[in-house]
Amino acid sequence: MLDPTPPTFGIEAISVTKRFGGFTALDQVSLRVRPGSFHALLGENGAGKSTLVKCIMGYYRADAGEIILGDQQQVIDSPRTAHELGLGMVYQHFTLVPSMTVAENFVLGKTRLPAVLNWREELARLEAFFAAMPFRVPLDVPASGLAAGEKQKAEITKQLYLGRRFLILDEPTSVLTPNEADEMLGLLKRMTRDGRLTVLMITHKLREVMAFADEVSVLRRGRHVGGGRVGEIGPRECAELMLGNAEIRRLTDRGGVPGAPMLEIAGLSADDDRGHPACRGIDVTVRAGEIVGIAGVSGNGQRELVEALDGQRPPSGGTIRVHGKLYHARRDEMHDARFYCLPEEPLRNACVASMSVAENLVMRDFDRPPFAFGGWWLRPSSFRAAAARLVERYRVKTSSLDAPIGTLSGGNVQRCVLARELGGEVAVLVVANPCFGLDMAAVAEIHAQLMEARNRGAAILLVSEDLDELLELSDRIFVMFNGRLVHEAAAATTDRVAIGRHMAGH
Ligand SMILES: Nc1ncnc2c1ncn2[C@@H]1O[C@H](COP(=O)(O)OP(=O)(O)OP(=O)(O)O)[C@@H](O)[C@H]1O
Ligand SMILES: [Mg+2]
Repeated sequence: MLDPTPPTFGIEAISVTKRFGGFTALDQVSLRVRPGSFHALLGENGAGKSTLVKCIMGYYRADAGEIILGDQQQVIDSPRTAHELGLGMVYQHFTLVPSMTVAENFVLGKTRLPAVLNWREELARLEAFFAAMPFRVPLDVPASGLAAGEKQKAEITKQLYLGRRFLILDEPTSVLTPNEADEMLGLLKRMTRDGRLTVLMITHKLREVMAFADEVSVLRRGRHVGGGRVGEIGPRECAELMLGNAEIRRLTDRGGVPGAPMLEIAGLSADDDRGHPACRGIDVTVRAGEIVGIAGVSGNGQRELVEALDGQRPPSGGTIRVHGKLYHARRDEMHDARFYCLPEEPLRNACVASMSVAENLVMRDFDRPPFAFGGWWLRPSSFRAAAARLVERYRVKTSSLDAPIGTLSGGNVQRCVLARELGGEVAVLVVANPCFGLDMAAVAEIHAQLMEARNRGAAILLVSEDLDELLELSDRIFVMFNGRLVHEAAAATTDRVAIGRHMAGH
């Protein structure tokens, strides 16, 4: 367990400026996090939140300004130095080593490792640590086999296991259910109250800020634009500070009634990475002009289901039909059926980080007219123009079309992938947690786009851990538990409580 002896400490960033080439990501930002406090950092996608905390962690070197730790100015030149000073960070993108087990990830995260590891002792220590936690994560499976929610819990508990005294969290609850998030944040809050920990948390969820944070700071376009003590400052003021005078898009009305069956999934089963059955006997039909939601706590087989539909995982049984025809998720079938899919963790699963924004935006169709002719002569000018239109329509913030997509902020990567998958004329769309990491203006935009695609006749299967999102968008909702669909309800006549009960297996 965490050693209570060394006290926690506060951090002050003074007039920090960070540029990437000619672009100023942070412009003289000052921020004070008091020792033992829970501080929330808010801001729209691309505001500079991740950049600021990466400067604190020594992942980036600020161009100007200073960082004071406790009462001393510190030069934090690398994450390793930060770790030695007691700082830990959970990044927006997962950082567990996929091929190592969760236990190995925890133990090998230590700054100082002994020459010879006594695994039995380490495992006993891990067991003792988890015995005192309100939840656990599987320790003996490769990190790659965890669902997004489990990974997120593992990332956070790993930092606690490593005994950090100042914890920075970049959107720590984006794929946790409200209950899981409350459990996790409640634990961290108690640790700050006990003076064992100071928390700086980046989030887009105002509900969490109001429920757990003591203080809040807001960034907009690389500047600190306001903040204060929670209670003295409310959700409305926070939203105004975040958005400036940008408008929030209203959800398009649900129009028309669902038509003919478009996506028919019958008896579909798929195994997880360890070869165990992950989803079993899934029967769902999605009609044209219908959004069918699948609710569930992450790790109940949703990921394997989406991967089976996307052709990334061979089904172990059952059939998929699109427009009545058998479908095997091959690339040519996807194209012909106008079948689009947005998996979770898009930077890893749906992009090439080192390729440009433009290349990533047209990746689906780069070898087809109008982008190519005669089979393989590519027409860069035509795909640049198409990419430019998507960037504008989906308001992707990027310095240029040629920037590697990996340099975009997390929310802007998500927008790019959505632009690519929603930009074409969609007949069938499978989406998993489409609003992961998006700010509220972007969430409103994506929700409106999904509803418009539905109203134009698309059949949409929406797999999400966000109940509010499911209730808002779906026509029908299923609950997935332990690999099976255990409950079906019309969205108009069900509520959070009913769905939540089935999510927990009751
Ligand atoms: N390595 C980099 N190279 C070039 N530009 C970068 C790099 N990292 C960040 N940027 C730019 O700096 C700006 C701020 O990015 P940052 O990741 O800090 O945003 P954020 O507030 O964390 O957004 P989000 O909510 O989407 O995660 C963005 O416009 C981004 O494109
Ligand atoms: Mg970020």
